[in-house]
Amino acid sequence: MNPLITTSLRKTYQDAQIAATSNEPVLILGETGVGKEVLARYIHSQSRRCNQSFLPLNCSALPPHLIESELFGYTQGAFTGASHDKKGILEQAEHGTVLLDEIGDMPLDVQAKVLRVIETGEMWPVGSTAYRRIDVRFIAATNADVKHLIEQRQFRRDLYYRLNIFLYQIPPLRHQPEEIPQLADAIFNGEVTLSTPVLELFFCYSWPGNIRELKNVLIYARSRATGREILLEHLPAELVQTCKHPAVLQGQSLKQKLECFEAVVLRHTLRRYPDPGDAAKSIGMELRTLYRRIKKFGIVAHPRQSSGL
Ligand SMILES: Nc1ncnc2c1ncn2[C@@H]1O[C@H](COP(=O)(O)OP(=O)(O)OP(=O)(O)O)[C@@H](O)[C@H]1O
Ligand SMILES: [Mg+2]
Repeated sequence: MNPLITTSLRKTYQDAQIAATSNEPVLILGETGVGKEVLARYIHSQSRRCNQSFLPLNCSALPPHLIESELFGYTQGAFTGASHDKKGILEQAEHGTVLLDEIGDMPLDVQAKVLRVIETGEMWPVGSTAYRRIDVRFIAATNADVKHLIEQRQFRRDLYYRLNIFLYQIPPLRHQPEEIPQLADAIFNGEVTLSTPVLELFFCYSWPGNIRELKNVLIYARSRATGREILLEHLPAELVQTCKHPAVLQGQSLKQKLECFEAVVLRHTLRRYPDPGDAAKSIGMELRTLYRRIKKFGIVAHPRQSSGL
C-alpha cells in the first residue's frame, strides 16, 4: 500500500528514507490505527532489503509462552509436541525485515534475547545448543506508553535505548483534524467531496481509531452516497450521534458553528495542557479571555477524557 503522506507525516516519511538506508533498529510509537505498520512497510520497501521478506510478529496476538518459539524457532524435542525442527520468523525473514508489533507485550526474557540478536546477530532456537547467525533488520512498534512500562519494569530500558536509534512518534488524527480533507482526497483520488456539516463533524470527533477509522467511515459513506458529495446521512448513525449539538451541525448560523468549534478546540487544548496558562499560550489567547470563554461554554476540565464533542 502506498502511504498517504499528509503535511504532519511529511517529516517522518522524509526521515524514514534515511532510516531505510541503515540497518539500525527503528521504534514506531503511536495510537492504534495511526499507520505504524504502514510506516514500517514503507521503510522496508525503501531499503536494500525490499526484495526479501517483511514479516510481522504481533506480540499481543500470541500467548506469551509462544512468542519465543515463533520468533526463534525450535528444535525437535525442545518441548512436548515439537516433533520436528521449525524455523522461527527471524530465520524465515533472513536478509529481510521483521516487525516486532506491540513489543510492549513481549515478555521480559524474550526482550533480553531480542536485544542479544540486535547486538550480536546471534540467536538460539528453543532447545538448540548452538547459536545461528542471522541478518535481519528490526522494526518495533507499539501503542503502549513505553516509558511507563519501563518505570513499571515491564520493558527493558537497555532494549528501549537500543531500539530508539530511529524513533518515530506518529500523532493521533485528532491533533490535526485540518488534514482530514487532504486524507479524503488522497483516499478517493479527489473523486469525493465532504459536505460542510460532515467536515464540521469530522473536525470535532476524536477519532480513537485514527486513519484506520477515518478510512472505514469514508468507504462506508461512499458506498451509500449517490453523487460525489458525502452528506451527514451517508455516515454511520453512531458517528453522527456523537455530536452533542446536532441543531448547530444541521443549522446555518456561522456564529453558532464557530462558537461550537471554539468550545471543541478549548476542550481539546485543556486536555492537552491542563494548566490554563499553558493552554492559553498554546492557542495564542489571553488568559483572561480563556477563563471568560471557559465560563461561557461551561467547560469542565477532564484532562484524561478523550471523547470528541
Ligand atoms: N499513512 C497512511 N496511508 C495510508 N493508509 C493508512 C495510513 N495510516 C493508516 N492507514 C490505514 O489505516 C490502517 C491501519 O494502519 P496500521 O495497521 O499501519 O496502523 P497501526 O498504527 O499499526 O495500528 P494498530 O496499533 O492497531 O496495529 C491501514 O490498513 C491503512 O488502511
Ligand atoms: Mg499495527
